[in-house]
Amino acid sequence: MTAPQRILVMGSGGREHALAWSLSRDPGVAEVIVAPGNPGMKDVATIRPAAASDDRMAAIAQELEVDLVVVGPEGPLVAGVADHLARRGIPVFGPGRDAARLEGSKAYCRDVAQAAGVPMAVGAAFEDDEEGAIDLSRRLGAPVVIKADGLAGGKGVTVCATLTEAEAAIRACRPRFGLAARRVVVERALSGREASVIAITDGASLLALPAARDHKRLGDDDTGPNTGGMGVYSPLPDLPDGQAAALMERFHRPILGELARRGIRYHGALYAGLMLTDDGPYLLECNVRFGDPETQALLPRLSTPLAPLLLGASNGRLARVAAAAGLAEGRIPGEGATVGVVLAAAGYPLEPRLGDPILGGDSPWAVSALTFWSGVRRSQGALVTNGGRVATIVGRGASLEEAAAAAYRASDAITFPGRQLRRDIGRVGSFAAGAGRP
Ligand code: AMP
Ligand code: GLY
Repeated sequence: MTAPQRILVMGSGGREHALAWSLSRDPGVAEVIVAPGNPGMKDVATIRPAAASDDRMAAIAQELEVDLVVVGPEGPLVAGVADHLARRGIPVFGPGRDAARLEGSKAYCRDVAQAAGVPMAVGAAFEDDEEGAIDLSRRLGAPVVIKADGLAGGKGVTVCATLTEAEAAIRACRPRFGLAARRVVVERALSGREASVIAITDGASLLALPAARDHKRLGDDDTGPNTGGMGVYSPLPDLPDGQAAALMERFHRPILGELARRGIRYHGALYAGLMLTDDGPYLLECNVRFGDPETQALLPRLSTPLAPLLLGASNGRLARVAAAAGLAEGRIPGEGATVGVVLAAAGYPLEPRLGDPILGGDSPWAVSALTFWSGVRRSQGALVTNGGRVATIVGRGASLEEAAAAAYRASDAITFPGRQLRRDIGRVGSFAAGAGRP
């Protein structure tokens, strides 16, 4: 199955670096372009500045004669960039605006999931109705979860241990998140372990990637504030790779079916954030893209070339591409184990400090570890911090222990003032202690 020759990846983070790295290794792919990218990606992609608008981005993709655009982050998808690209006849991996509402509105996601018969925590959405939201939180009892409906950069969810906290979180939503909190979702808090199950789909066929687990809290043993993700590992001892496809049948397929009933075609990556509880798995949220940092840990585990699969998802030929690649059972198999350690800037997540010089960043990749850059820029020839999450260092090995050792060896070689990292990512014992507890 032929690969797209020229691929444009939209985005600038570690996820996009991992996508560009994986795509650039495909012998059928002649060039990977990343916009806006970051200077850490230069070995695997051509870096282009971002366009001023989504329509302009689509025009640039057309001028560059790319065969596929892969959209990394949710913002442009929710804003409708895939529709702009599709109108110009450019194959795009990532859903259109209608389907991206699954991530753009948590209330919409709940509505679709409910209609699809997918299990979610008891809850409801309230529009301009703080009193109604407070009332439901009282009826559910603590702990309870308060969510701004719209996109809030991963900060819109508050897990509240008491009803006083819940009321404060509800009242703070509008001032904190503005229009993204016109609606507020109140949900019963579930407890268990979280898992990210991502499927690639053209709307009809689905392929599950192995499950991965993100570590959202800043500190070891899941302490401290929530972040965009401080580390990740795969496979999960409690959710072996082979089980991801079964979860995809229970979550992703019915959601796509419900969207289809509403006249909406979904294509791209569909990410289900699951809570594995004693009563079975529940859906916490849908994302309409690959996860960050999950992608950094997942792609190095795949030996199946990604480019033809992403093109197949974009043009409705996923089943054929999967058959040609010898994939059976609706899944993309993973090999070995990976542990991704995020290096974060001083002050992250509240006020990341920018401009700190990074030492060791230009050393060549070790065989057993990969460095995927996110918040970096070049200043007078040297890499400096330019965002909260600076890099994800991914160790590879036959086991999680080996992969973690490789990840920490490589992480310790990259330093900058105030560098923050967790020391317990993927360690057996740390997930047994309950990584992912709410
Ligand atoms: P986000 O990725 O920003 O939407 O945050 C979602 C996170 O909030 C999840 O990863 C969970 O840690 C937490 N969360 C969301 N809904 C619930 C729930 N019903 N019960 C417990 N934790 C939840
Ligand atoms: N790792 C969580 C996310 O990508 O939203």
